[in-house]
Amino acid sequence: MDAVRRQRYLKLLGIEAWRPRTAGSAQTEPASCAAPVAEAPPARALPSVPDSARAFSMPRAKPKPEAPAAPAKTAPVRPQALEVPADWTGLRAVVKDCQACKLCETRTHTVFGVGHEQAPLMIVGEGPGADEDAQGEPFVGRAGKLLDEMLKAIGRSRAEQNPQRAVFIANVVKCRPPGNRDPEPDEVEACRRYLDRQIELVKPRLIVALGRIAAQRLLESDEPLSRLRGPLHRYGASGTPVLVTYHPAYLLRSPREKAKSWEDLKKIHRQLQGQA
Ligand code: URA
Ligand code: SF4
Repeated sequence: MDAVRRQRYLKLLGIEAWRPRTAGSAQTEPASCAAPVAEAPPARALPSVPDSARAFSMPRAKPKPEAPAAPAKTAPVRPQALEVPADWTGLRAVVKDCQACKLCETRTHTVFGVGHEQAPLMIVGEGPGADEDAQGEPFVGRAGKLLDEMLKAIGRSRAEQNPQRAVFIANVVKCRPPGNRDPEPDEVEACRRYLDRQIELVKPRLIVALGRIAAQRLLESDEPLSRLRGPLHRYGASGTPVLVTYHPAYLLRSPREKAKSWEDLKKIHRQLQGQA
């Protein structure tokens, strides 16, 4: 990691001028759930976000027109009843049509994850935003651009074919929580088995949790991010090492933390090089 990379990374964190996305762009096709419902209002407003961060405060979806009684389709599959395939193809198929929690009612696309299936580094975010919901890929919005820069700073990218430098990126929940709210505990629970299976299949050498939601979920903790960031933790029965850092969306709102984020990136790099 040279000075140029560092400078580029820090500069990116300071960038102010981002073009907001046009509202409604996420509504390209109807949600695939059996029972469409009007989008719930956001559970809680984001902390005040500067104009520059607007693109990340997602455009609100247009309320859906009153739906006529939906033709009786198959009842939603409850998570308890789900068989979670132990192979990538099966897992992708199950997630694509999943109706195990209410987020299926408002999503456009499920967002499975992206990257190398045998990557030594796995990044876990919170859940899709409007851009990700529209495109079906994690971290493609403004926070995603910053994540890509963070990865580049440690010589990695989501498109990397060399398994040594590869990364797999996934989220705690695979469907977008409406109105940019946090995923609710029942949604995190319903989606738990998919992320667990992804980790089992990737077998990363290191998991990086982005932000509080991912950290608490992976570490089964209710400690604040400030307590979880720092030490090396272990995930589940496999004992996979976990490091916690700031979510890139938070960094965009709080550029004061950028220096600490750079320290985290160096630690992640060292851990992956086996020098921690
Ligand atoms: N934020 C996340 O946590 N995940 C995404 O995929 C996009 C934004
Ligand atoms: Fe299924 Fe997860 Fe989407 Fe809920 S968030 S519907 S559990 S894929």
